[in-house]
Amino acid sequence: MSKTATLEIDGKKHEFPLIVGTENEVAIDIKTLRAVTGGVTTIDPGYKNTGACESAITFLNGEEGILRYRGYSIEELAEKADFLEVAYLLIFGELPTQEQLDKFNADIKEQSVVDDDIKKIIDAFPKSAHPMGVLSSLTSALTAFNPSSVNVDSEEEMYKTVCKIMGKFPVLVAWTMRKKNGLPLNYGDSSLGYVENILKMMFSKPNEDYKQNEILVNALDKLLILHADHEQNCSTSTVRIVGSAHTGLFASISSGISALWGPLHGGANQAVLEMLEAIKEDGGDTKKFMAKAKDKEDPFRLMGFGHRVYKNFDPRAKIIKVAADEVLADLGVEDPVLDIAKGLASEALSDEYFVKRKLYPNVDFYSGIIYRSMGIPVEMFTVMFALGRLPGWIAQWKEMRARKEPIGRPRQIYIGENLRDFKTIEKR
Ligand code: ACO
Repeated sequence: MSKTATLEIDGKKHEFPLIVGTENEVAIDIKTLRAVTGGVTTIDPGYKNTGACESAITFLNGEEGILRYRGYSIEELAEKADFLEVAYLLIFGELPTQEQLDKFNADIKEQSVVDDDIKKIIDAFPKSAHPMGVLSSLTSALTAFNPSSVNVDSEEEMYKTVCKIMGKFPVLVAWTMRKKNGLPLNYGDSSLGYVENILKMMFSKPNEDYKQNEILVNALDKLLILHADHEQNCSTSTVRIVGSAHTGLFASISSGISALWGPLHGGANQAVLEMLEAIKEDGGDTKKFMAKAKDKEDPFRLMGFGHRVYKNFDPRAKIIKVAADEVLADLGVEDPVLDIAKGLASEALSDEYFVKRKLYPNVDFYSGIIYRSMGIPVEMFTVMFALGRLPGWIAQWKEMRARKEPIGRPRQIYIGENLRDFKTIEKR
């Protein structure tokens, strides 16, 4: 392949270097475009053709269903590593030795106490507040309680800040859910593993001992690993661009949570369950809704089917389907909503319309099923996504800082009025 791309404007040729990634992805490096062309820019709404950065964190190939963190396949990581190891891998670039993992774990535990005054902020929210809004606010509020965390130039301070957010975020997540469920805002148990502790903090009741269920721990561990990073998606790009102004980690992640909240992004898993509930309310006729999904005159789509990037299969869905089956079998939940989910999945997998368009259940479909059977309220589903995505956001923010990326500041093409004379109010 040639090493440059040529752009011709008004008969003048300009050469730009091609950048080739380690997986042979090719990009035209247009950093000098405006300078050499006298101000010509590019336009690409939604950045569908624009690489915002070079990154060594996550590789994905939607056509072939490949997802890798730092070069390790998602299948191998989900099978052999736990969430904390994966978090370390994403944030620091290599799988930890036992000693490194123990230290990271201990440092996180040391930082996992949340200032008790945060409870006052939680108390001020109405019970009906969406947990994503509450979580975003609380994460931003962490800066107020940890003011030195804005010292983004200090490596030592940033390591502490990473441990703080890894330790305090699960507490905020658990408290957000407990407030909704009317439960006391308890701490977890430092003797437990990271994921076990999350489950205990979310579900323990004040009047009984909490018993761990290994199948649930395994399913949640896998779900968090599968969601841990997905390269330059909307929330991750948000975290990087906010951080590019040298904003602190807590505020950058708070912005990422707001981006993830949207139904076109992390909100999809909530939409799956809402659709299943709606089908149940309508009488539970899955065939009727399959027909609606296929009817081009009908805007209805089967939520949780298809993916913008994965066009053959979602590698994460394959892994999580196994965990979903285990959870359902273990808990023996009898739930008409989950029966509808199973019915839709099996019908779609043998239906010509879905098979031809390669529309398979995606990760959100199965994650919704697992969260529902665990007893997590629908509105908390996106919060669980955020919990998994946390190490990815941290890793991307840290990489952006390490690469000394300039402040994110896109250009535009102005299409408004040309210069015009001001009219006094009586002449308008
Ligand atoms: N139900 C019915 N038909 C569908 C569905 C669906 N869920 N998804 C796609 N199709 C059809 C389209 O109508 C189109 O048919 P056509 O070729 O006859 O016109 C064809 O499949 C291709 O669909 P596109 O819309 O071009 O696919 P696109 O890549 O734009 O959309 C998307 C992907 C948005 C995920 C889509 O499949 C969808 O809306 N799915 C449901 C929502 C959902 O589950 N979103 C979460 C995705 S996972 C995540 O974001 C983490």
